[in-house]
Amino acid sequence: MPPDSPTVSVEHLVVERGHRTVLLDVSTSIPAGAVTGLLGPSGSGKTTLMRSIVGTQKVKSGTVTVLGEPAGSKPLRRRVAYVTQDASIYPDLSVKSNVSYFAALCGRSKEDAMAAIDAVGMHDHANQLAGNLSGGQKTRTSLACALVCEPEVLVLDEPTVGLDPVIREELWNHFHDLAAAGKTVLVSSHVMDEADRCDRLLLLREGRFIADDTPGDLRASTGTDNLESAFLHLIRELEKAG
Ligand SMILES: Nc1ncnc2c1ncn2[C@@H]1O[C@H](COP(=O)(O)OP(=O)(O)OP(=O)(O)O)[C@@H](O)[C@H]1O
Ligand SMILES: [Mg+2]
Repeated sequence: MPPDSPTVSVEHLVVERGHRTVLLDVSTSIPAGAVTGLLGPSGSGKTTLMRSIVGTQKVKSGTVTVLGEPAGSKPLRRRVAYVTQDASIYPDLSVKSNVSYFAALCGRSKEDAMAAIDAVGMHDHANQLAGNLSGGQKTRTSLACALVCEPEVLVLDEPTVGLDPVIREELWNHFHDLAAAGKTVLVSSHVMDEADRCDRLLLLREGRFIADDTPGDLRASTGTDNLESAFLHLIRELEKAG
């Protein structure tokens, strides 16, 4: 892969789900070394786009390339981690065993597993059964399972939903540390107050991008002082334009 090429390249992607076209000719590229936010209302297609990037979504047309390989291809398996919207962990295993299991799959140690558990603030629950955790704790355990393999590309579907402000702050700091270390971090959210934490924003609405900008530039170009208003402003402009 040439040195400056983006980690993820999406070109003219069209996806149909259940007879409905949910991504309509979407193109974008996502670089390493930054936290890219994928924002948009419920049903706008965020999860569908993420599934296309990790290769679990059947696509109708277009291409998705990750680290120079077709999305979902074998060489990418250990290089790309996906944290789904619903936590995907084994309920009958402890937090420690869940994360150690994923660590073993990618040749990491038990110490690495404990470091990932610490990073998501789950140290005090390491021995608890995953099935007995609260929703936010399950999400954090799922995140630790992804982080422990130190993948080059992290695709995180609404990882901070339902978490308290302190944990959210810590996780966002962690995402930025990963980006600073050269990783590619794509995070979705439908909460606009999280958008300000991203280096760059992709705003999705009804299967189309309506903005691709930094939070500061988006506020400036829409003449608003917060991103929720900026998003509404863009939607109204689009509606006016028909
Ligand atoms: N398995 C499916 N069969 C049919 N339609 C689906 C299926 N999964 C998703 N859809 C539809 O595709 C569209 C996009 O869904 P998607 O899950 O990508 O949205 P989202 O932006 O992630 O929403 P949310 O913020 O609620 O998670 C929605 O209209 C949804 O109803
Ligand atoms: Mg979703």
